[in-house]
Amino acid sequence: MLLTEIDHVAIAVNDLEAAIAFYQTAFGAEVEHREIVERDGVEEALLKVAESYVQLITGVREDSPITKHLAKRGEGLHHIGYRVDDCAKVLEAMVAAGATPIDAEPRPGSRGTTVAFIHPKGALGTLIELVQE
Ligand code: CO
Repeated sequence: MLLTEIDHVAIAVNDLEAAIAFYQTAFGAEVEHREIVERDGVEEALLKVAESYVQLITGVREDSPITKHLAKRGEGLHHIGYRVDDCAKVLEAMVAAGATPIDAEPRPGSRGTTVAFIHPKGALGTLIELVQE
């Protein structure tokens, strides 16, 4: 098995402060990490759940894929992050299994991780992010 953990479940939200407040009120959740990833045009807040995270994400500019996604589909589940030991190896295995990569090569993600995204078409309608710590 190449997956070692569910790294995160990512939820696209319009208002990051309001979303954090909702998780704080509902679950007593605390923000473990917060970051603006300029390359992706995304701001994220990570709420730790055991060894995984709930990742609340919003767009920080008009041309960001998340901003476009929110405009088209509204708030909701956006992608799932699978933790792996070797991002390049698992990306290769996914492509061999018929999946379509969005990132041809692993690249830097948030909090110093290495990541690669796989297109939902060819992956059971699920946007997948491979995350190597
Ligand atoms: Co993610």
